[in-house]
Amino acid sequence: MPFLQTVEVHRVEARPFLKWAGGKSSLLNQFDQLFPRSVDRYIEPFLGGGAVFFHLKHRFPAMRAFLRDSNKELINCYRIVRDRPIELMRWLDHHEKSFRSQGAEYYYRVRKENHLTDDLARAARTIFLNKTCFNGLFRVNARGEFNTPVGSNPSPSVYNRENLLAASAALQDVQLEAEDFRNVVNQARKGDFIYFDPPYIPISAYSDFKRYTPDQFREADQVELARVFRELDAKGCRVALSGSDHARTRQLYGGYHIHTVSAPRAINCKGDKRGNISELLVTNFAVTTNRHGSLPREPTFPETKYMGSKQRLLPFILKHFAGLKFNSVLDAFSGSGCVGYALKQAGAEVFANDFLHFCFHIARATIENNTTLLGEEDIQNLLKPVRSAPTLVRDTYKGLFFDEADCEFLDQLWANIQRLDSPLKKSLALAAACRACMKKRPRGLFTFTGRKGWDGRLDLKLSMRDQFVAAVTAFNNAVFSNGQENRAFNEDVFEIPPAIADVVYIDTPYISPYSDCDYTRRYHFVEGYCRYWKGVEIMPDTTTKKFRSYETAFATHGGARAAFQRLFHHFRRSILVVSYSSNCLPTKSEMIELLRQEKKSVVFYEAAHRYHSGNQAHKVGNNNSRATEYLFVAQ
Ligand SMILES: C[S@@+](CC[C@H](N)C(=O)[O-])C[C@H]1O[C@@H](n2cnc3c(N)ncnc32)[C@H](O)[C@@H]1O
Repeated sequence: MPFLQTVEVHRVEARPFLKWAGGKSSLLNQFDQLFPRSVDRYIEPFLGGGAVFFHLKHRFPAMRAFLRDSNKELINCYRIVRDRPIELMRWLDHHEKSFRSQGAEYYYRVRKENHLTDDLARAARTIFLNKTCFNGLFRVNARGEFNTPVGSNPSPSVYNRENLLAASAALQDVQLEAEDFRNVVNQARKGDFIYFDPPYIPISAYSDFKRYTPDQFREADQVELARVFRELDAKGCRVALSGSDHARTRQLYGGYHIHTVSAPRAINCKGDKRGNISELLVTNFAVTTNRHGSLPREPTFPETKYMGSKQRLLPFILKHFAGLKFNSVLDAFSGSGCVGYALKQAGAEVFANDFLHFCFHIARATIENNTTLLGEEDIQNLLKPVRSAPTLVRDTYKGLFFDEADCEFLDQLWANIQRLDSPLKKSLALAAACRACMKKRPRGLFTFTGRKGWDGRLDLKLSMRDQFVAAVTAFNNAVFSNGQENRAFNEDVFEIPPAIADVVYIDTPYISPYSDCDYTRRYHFVEGYCRYWKGVEIMPDTTTKKFRSYETAFATHGGARAAFQRLFHHFRRSILVVSYSSNCLPTKSEMIELLRQEKKSVVFYEAAHRYHSGNQAHKVGNNNSRATEYLFVAQ
């Protein structure tokens, strides 16, 4: 698996680095609903600004792409962005500075430089002219010379550094050729996805999009394009094409699926004609709907305020996973599940483990589960009143965290969950119930009772039933397959077989001098609910009616060093990636020393980080929430 690429590109979605008339940025959401759900090989013969490519590359990081355009200057720009981004930025800085000081005169001087031979200089010129010209119109005259006048902005930004680098990363390994769209037939293989965004059949006398290149795109070309579309269809490719909402487009592509999408009109000779227009997307495949009959959507992870969740640190963590070669990974202390889920999205085979039942159900629902959803009928059944339901929640917790009606709902819901026929559905429902309970608690915690921290937010006011229904949708939306058999476990970490995965990601409770790191105490209510308090003993004299915390080696200052030593030894056969923080024990140098006992190479990375609420390494509001987050990589 090309993991480096997979994770890097996953991080930031590049946007077009050129302004492009007819660019598709504003249509991407609509396209997501109509495009295939997975793409291995992608061909785009009319590349233009590349909005669709950048978007698809972000969605499908392992996708192989072949990008084409007949415009040689354009393809040269993409090659330079791909291969020489740093030098290019130096050139662009120079152009930008000179334009700011010399204005239109400088623009016209650069515009005249038609015959540059150096590829880098040509790319810099094209990008500069594109960003400073009138309306970003890439227009050439009959001799192929760029002839758009200067734009009105005296200090436009010629490029965005982060975006240019993201574009460069997305273009690595991409094949770029300046050639005619007809060649695509020879290149395409069965199963490829090909997206055409040709010059449109004009719907008004003012549409001038066909003047992208010296050769105009004529009626005969439109006919040829339709023939190419049919040939690719016959070859077994998946083909999509954008076009104007014109009778001729419908005629040329009769028999295929024709969808209407709504596009803001960006370039028009009359300002008052700006607004939304409809255009067409033709596909030779039907839209796949999910089990509810609704359109497919991008899977999203239901974030929580889980103590120590790495959600906001994911870019930092994934960036360093990117340098490792592996196929499988164990998220050994999965907690909220966000790290394991992100690695599943990046294509790895993921094993997730946590000793808390409720974390296990989240991981089973979102990481192990590739296809199962809670359907409409399941939801109705889960919401039904049950007369014979047990009453433990109401009897023990009424008025402590939730009112009587909410407690009663939870008792009945638990009875209904027992009737679900599949373990994955049970996990989805339990995960949703826990999410509902946490959403209805200030900071998602169960360490205090009553209305402390109650700020009247809607989340706190919604009924448990409404929260549960919303949470089911959130978990259903997280379900997707990455083509791997992922697994969730509910074990003490030392029970997990040592060589289970190529990489073990270790994110233990952070043992801090400033606060305890007792997960059972903070989440005892949802944890108890998942097992309906079977096998644990509620301590009747406690205010929160908690049960005794589970034993874990990662609990005390005194035991910290020995616990890590044992852990690293247990997983010594895998690459170890360890998250830890500067205000915790063992210290950074002790950690390195412990890792060195098992591994030859230990490197560490740092990121400034501030935990928001209820984190293990600080008491909220205290400066100890500012810490340096470490990531150790030992192999
Ligand atoms: C820092 S949190 C993990 C956070 C997680 N990476 C995330 O992003 O949400 C530590 C987790 O370790 C779990 N844990 C503590 N001791 C454990 C043990 N002995 N075996 C397995 N899990 C344990 C806790 O339940 C908690 O969820």
